[in-house]
Amino acid sequence: MAEAILTRLLASQLYQPHTLLVSEPQAPRRSFLAQTYGVKVTDDNQQTLEGTEAVLLAVKPQILDKVVSQLSLEGVGDHPLILSILAGTPLNRLETAFPNFPVIRVMPNTPATVGVGMTAVAAGTQVQPSHLTLAHAIFGAVGEVVEVSESLMDGVTGLSGSGPAFVALMIEALSDGGVASGLPRAIANQLAVQTVLGTATLMKETGLHPGQLKDKVTSPGGTTIAGVATLEEKGFRSAVIEAVKTAHRRSQELGK
Ligand SMILES: NC(=O)c1ccc[n+]([C@@H]2O[C@H](COP(=O)([O-])OP(=O)(O)OC[C@H]3O[C@@H](n4cnc5c(N)ncnc54)[C@H](OP(=O)(O)O)[C@@H]3O)[C@@H](O)[C@H]2O)c1
Repeated sequence: MAEAILTRLLASQLYQPHTLLVSEPQAPRRSFLAQTYGVKVTDDNQQTLEGTEAVLLAVKPQILDKVVSQLSLEGVGDHPLILSILAGTPLNRLETAFPNFPVIRVMPNTPATVGVGMTAVAAGTQVQPSHLTLAHAIFGAVGEVVEVSESLMDGVTGLSGSGPAFVALMIEALSDGGVASGLPRAIANQLAVQTVLGTATLMKETGLHPGQLKDKVTSPGGTTIAGVATLEEKGFRSAVIEAVKTAHRRSQELGK
């Protein structure tokens, strides 16, 4: 995820390569990152805190304590903004780990890797408006950004965090339906992906409500309303609603 964000930050020219420092424990990865992106690299996490405006914390949540225990935080002068993308790791835990640092909890999603991500940010107690502006600029480079209170982060995780998997399932099922109707797999995949992309783009660009769009494409006694009726009969909408709610609950459980 950090590499995806890095590539977008460079592509958007928000930062020049030589102004970015990547801390990475493995030497081959350090060489790869330095050669591929022209960024500075280190294996010393402490260096990321010295003289920097923001630190993107992107390790696995289970090694947070180990990583923080190896830092010496008291001597750090100007406290950089800590941007944590650690799933399920609450602000109070991050603020305890980084006392007196401004901390923003961030939930990006996988489409960030291609610049169409959806990121939610929740601000900690030390955060100033300038920190939020910076967070919007950084995550704006990988898609859209929305600010929420931390209590909504598990809901965000259930929808935009887990959502790409739900949509992938829908695309796969559309494609399977096409193959079942006699289409070659490659064509069925192309039709399914482009249909989902096109529908999302149409709704985004026109501001159409999903129900309005459905009404526009369902002619009386036609093919689409027959398919819609089947989806309703099989509980499609209810299944999607329950999937988001279950992912929300799981995120709450993992955060405990
Ligand atoms: N993937 C997603 O879609 C997604 C979405 C939202 C949030 N997140 C969050 O993003 C974070 C990263 O997830 P990921 O999927 O990108 O995992 P990942 O590929 O395993 O990335 C973790 C990175 O941390 C590095 N690392 C390990 N130990 C370190 C240390 N002591 N100091 C500094 N760096 C260290 C790893 O380096 P090596 O590989 O060389 O060990 C690796 O580059 C997680 O907290 C996850 O919850 C991910």
